[in-house]
Amino acid sequence: MSKVVRTNTGAAAPDPSEAEVAARVEALMGRMSLEEKIGQLTQIGGAAFVPGPKPEDVIRKGGAGSVLWLNNTKQFNVLQKIAVEESPAKIPLLFALDVIHGYRTIFPVPLAMASSWDPSVAERAQAVAAKEARAAGLHWTFGPMLDIARDARWGRIVEGAGEDPFLGVAMAAAQVRGFQGPSLGAPDRIVACAKHFAGYGVADGGRDYDPVYLPEGQLRNVYFPPFEAALKAGVGTFMSAYMDLNDVPASGNRFLLRDVLRGEWGFKGFVISDAFAVGSLVTQGFARDGRDAAFRALSAGVNMDMASNTYPQHLAGLVEDGTLKLDDIDAAVRPILAVKVRMGLFEQPYTDESKLAQVVALPEHRKEARLAAQRSMVLLRNEGRLLPLAKSLKNVAVIGPLADSMEATEGSWMVFGHTPAAVTVVEGIRAKLPGAKVEYAPGPEIRRDIASWFDTMMPEAKKVPQTPEQAEAACQTAVATARSADVVVMVLGENADMAGEAASRASLDLPGRQEELLKAVVTLGKPVVLVLLNGRPLSIGWAAENVPAILEAWEPGSEGGHAIADILFGDVNPGGKLPVTFPRKGSHAPLYYARNLTHSPEGSPMYNPRYWDGLPTPLYPFGFGLSYTTFSITSLKVSAPQVKVGRSVTVTADVTNTGSVVGDEVAQLYIHQRAGSDSRPMRELKGFERLTLKPGETKTVTFTLGPAELSHWSTNAGKWIQDAEAFDVWVGANSLATLHADLVVVC
Ligand code: GLC
Repeated sequence: MSKVVRTNTGAAAPDPSEAEVAARVEALMGRMSLEEKIGQLTQIGGAAFVPGPKPEDVIRKGGAGSVLWLNNTKQFNVLQKIAVEESPAKIPLLFALDVIHGYRTIFPVPLAMASSWDPSVAERAQAVAAKEARAAGLHWTFGPMLDIARDARWGRIVEGAGEDPFLGVAMAAAQVRGFQGPSLGAPDRIVACAKHFAGYGVADGGRDYDPVYLPEGQLRNVYFPPFEAALKAGVGTFMSAYMDLNDVPASGNRFLLRDVLRGEWGFKGFVISDAFAVGSLVTQGFARDGRDAAFRALSAGVNMDMASNTYPQHLAGLVEDGTLKLDDIDAAVRPILAVKVRMGLFEQPYTDESKLAQVVALPEHRKEARLAAQRSMVLLRNEGRLLPLAKSLKNVAVIGPLADSMEATEGSWMVFGHTPAAVTVVEGIRAKLPGAKVEYAPGPEIRRDIASWFDTMMPEAKKVPQTPEQAEAACQTAVATARSADVVVMVLGENADMAGEAASRASLDLPGRQEELLKAVVTLGKPVVLVLLNGRPLSIGWAAENVPAILEAWEPGSEGGHAIADILFGDVNPGGKLPVTFPRKGSHAPLYYARNLTHSPEGSPMYNPRYWDGLPTPLYPFGFGLSYTTFSITSLKVSAPQVKVGRSVTVTADVTNTGSVVGDEVAQLYIHQRAGSDSRPMRELKGFERLTLKPGETKTVTFTLGPAELSHWSTNAGKWIQDAEAFDVWVGANSLATLHADLVVVC
């Protein structure tokens, strides 16, 4: 497909070819001093909390190629004008921010979008995010976040696609397509950034930033695939992670950034470090000093230093004393200039300041956000078919500290400077039942035990904590409000600052007195629905036994309240599935479905419960989700009982809506290699398809099992192999699927 770059008349022009891009880059390089080249390798912070000289002064001297932590169209144009008209090389800046799940129209958090098991949800969401962000003057997002996460205590599990690489691969490619579109030059797209390369989600104890130890087999079979998928989808940039990977910080890690990313995968874009991570190589006890850090990060393959100022302080000296060659600098600069050329920044460096207001007001953006939220929610329980609730209800109580919280509804990783403006659950239910009495009571507030250090960056005043007396009064008021209603909707979970970066926690319980409040309300004997707003799996064991209806709504975004009401009152039948396992206890983490068998597997006579103080079986398994209708999955067929190494078979199954209302089912294909060069996980997802079926309707799903699905990186062989071995094949509605077939791979 031809790519389009805008000219200053705004007319579409053919995207420059690779050769034209290279020629333009060389021409630029030819007129740049060493200092200006190092400037291109430097990203500076545009926010007050970042120490150092004023951005204007740095840019005027050609000391920066990009700015982050600034979200102001007018100021973008001011800084761009200085870069383009006053700096020596007159090279435009890239403006970057974390646009993770929406710019002004906020979409469900990525973990929620993964719960849709519909990559088009993620693609469309990121396309809207790109359109709004570009209209604001941004060129580059630090997304998608691609870290596979299997420890729910880790706060950043909210930002990714969950625990499984196959689902993660699908969501990675979809998000890159959404952000970047077919061409970086399009005026409503932004360049994406595959982050955090790699293995960040495996921190010891789920403690954010902690060191990670991963054998190469795990890296290549589980943690690398979403990043490689993003690269194959054309992602323009990568971000190196903070933490030590096998004793080498990711931002100084040649294996990751040279051997794998460029050597094996052929990445032609550029790598930016995580925030201050180049300078942090000293803090982490890896680099001797800033000079050593600059040398080792650049040598390892980090093109751009995010805000640590280490490159501008040391690179010139390293070239002058011969430690680095000028070619090393040039090689790091070229891909950055290439992105700027491909994005058309030389032709169109400025942003029309009237554009954002037009774009963010587009009704289709809110529609997309509502649809994405509807498709992301997971029905965890519906005893006695309490849901959907009748629209004829006249007296509903909505209880809980998150029920009217715009912040909790939009969730973690809001764009820098964004003011939450979501439709809350209370507002959504009131809009759905205009004639009813819908009373709201928050109950006791919930707060982190230790405040987020991000609070120091966000000037808005944090609320003064409730006193114990105030909390008790709020609890009594909430119970009284529930007592006077016919049905109670409890909205519980986590505040937006309880998941995300620097938001790990040791427990997965409902924070504060939420469970106590829930128990008090359930004791009233009225119908109770629990809506969860949260950024991670929660150990809601009591609720799972005692609350008849539970809807996992995650952090659903700007339209969250409407989408939740759509589902609670039956206008939408939920069809989401869990992309992460729900443990019974935080101390069971990390807990995930794709584990290897042991000598004492569950169900064997030798089976010994892994803890004597309670079974670690999941509260809800990976891939689980209910519907207002029922489905059957039958007639599993494999096109041949045997397949040669390197060849493929087709797997089919019939999915039938056996209930009375239209609904979505996600058919999932799992395999298990029974023996071979290495022990392999007892189950691995290798196919999925979300289907909409009318009552009585049957559709056949078709999957392919070939070398891509049946090979693995072998720890034993030290390479990718496909064993000629016997496999189990299952198709079902979650990772405990029982519909089974055999497949033998032969030489
Ligand atoms: C952070 C995060 C990273 C983000 C960057 C810029 O600390 O780790 O995900 O993109 O800083 O905000």
